Amino acid sequence: MDTTPKQKPYAATGTEASWHRGWILTDAKREKFRQTSLKSQAAKARAMRGECNKPKHPIPTPRLDPCTLMPKRRPNGLRALSLFSGGGGLDIGFDRAGYEHVASYDILPLVANVLGEAWPERRVIAGDAGDVTQMDWRIYRERVDVLHGGPPCQPFSHAGSRAGAADVRDMIPELVRAVVEIRPRAFVCENVSGLATKQFARYLQAVLFEPLSRNYTIRMFILEAASFGVPQRRKRVFFVGFSNKQAAERFCEPTPTHVWDSATTKLSKTMGAREALGLDTLGFDGLAPTIRSGLTGPRHSTSVVNSATSLRDWNALGIWPNGVAPDRHAASLFVAKGGHYRLSLADCMVLQGFPADWPIKPPVYKALGLIGNSVAPPMGYAVACAVAKALSMPPNRTRTTSSSREARHGRAYGVRLRGSLK
Ligand SMILES: C[S@@+](CC[C@H](N)C(=O)[O-])C[C@H]1O[C@@H](n2cnc3c(N)ncnc32)[C@H](O)[C@@H]1O
Repeated sequence: MDTTPKQKPYAATGTEASWHRGWILTDAKREKFRQTSLKSQAAKARAMRGECNKPKHPIPTPRLDPCTLMPKRRPNGLRALSLFSGGGGLDIGFDRAGYEHVASYDILPLVANVLGEAWPERRVIAGDAGDVTQMDWRIYRERVDVLHGGPPCQPFSHAGSRAGAADVRDMIPELVRAVVEIRPRAFVCENVSGLATKQFARYLQAVLFEPLSRNYTIRMFILEAASFGVPQRRKRVFFVGFSNKQAAERFCEPTPTHVWDSATTKLSKTMGAREALGLDTLGFDGLAPTIRSGLTGPRHSTSVVNSATSLRDWNALGIWPNGVAPDRHAASLFVAKGGHYRLSLADCMVLQGFPADWPIKPPVYKALGLIGNSVAPPMGYAVACAVAKALSMPPNRTRTTSSSREARHGRAYGVRLRGSLK
């Protein structure tokens, strides 16, 4: 094993980082922002002292329990390895789909607190030791059936400068290296849908398809979180690869379980954001706009707004997406402009599809970083179930026979196939 320390390309942070793009502001504009921020801090302090004389919002009880969107399945005998685990969105999906995780890796130390509290038995490697660029993955060979990960999306996101491979945060080559070294039976790679645009077609060909397609049959598809009952507009691209051709042929992309904008279907209706949060009706509801990651810039942000359009949509919903409060009580004390409902971390978790008791905690900007960066768990669950189904069917059965049998039993087969590792 080569023990020479590897270079850490992304070691710089804040305004020192190569991806930092400062705002070009006049002194007058900068001063205006400063004054607004000071005013808002003072208003918050008054509110927390109970000096808010406007009517308080009653604290709502959410109507959506995201766990109902991803019923826990029995163990399926498949072993998963999680890279770039973050707040655990994809991990939750795989866990509830019946996988057993061998380990979870992330460079953020905070991830150890969240995943460690949620799953005390889980091997969570976070902080410097969780840096995927420093790993020799061969230790996991023969020990992992499915490798999954959502590498950082900033190099491909429409919210950033879309520098792709030129952005040192691009970790897709690292996920590919892990697949090559471990040779799992299947892998799942998730990212923003911007990665599936023409701009990155060559990049994907060179970085993902070419190195892996000799040993894997790879499928690429885009899913919408609202199609799985999540009350938010959130599109993500998935790459799913199988080392076994039959498993790849059996694989079916997850089909929607829910629908938002049609009454003429037998699918369940996705709740609107207000209904999901338990807010009173305005005679109008809608999906929440895509929740932004709070960790996308060098400054700490407690806002979930990711564009001018999304701000307009939050306004229309009567929901205040800036200054997210640490909890519902604090949110109710600090009445937002126009009497709009102020979001709390717990609300953001509902809108993202996290279980209500998921241990993501303040500080708010760090918690929002984990929530906004995550795969909506019910969407991850749908992919995890589809992969388990393709891997778990006995090879001599046809798809129809197997799926009707599965429908009878209401679960995937717990059979582990051997011999597909190259
Ligand atoms: C898009 S988020 C993943 C979210 C996760 N899949 C989920 O569903 O919650 C990307 C994660 O990659 C992590 N990351 C970035 N560079 C890394 C590195 N070199 N090693 C390990 N993790 C890294 C970040 O800390 C972040 O949590």
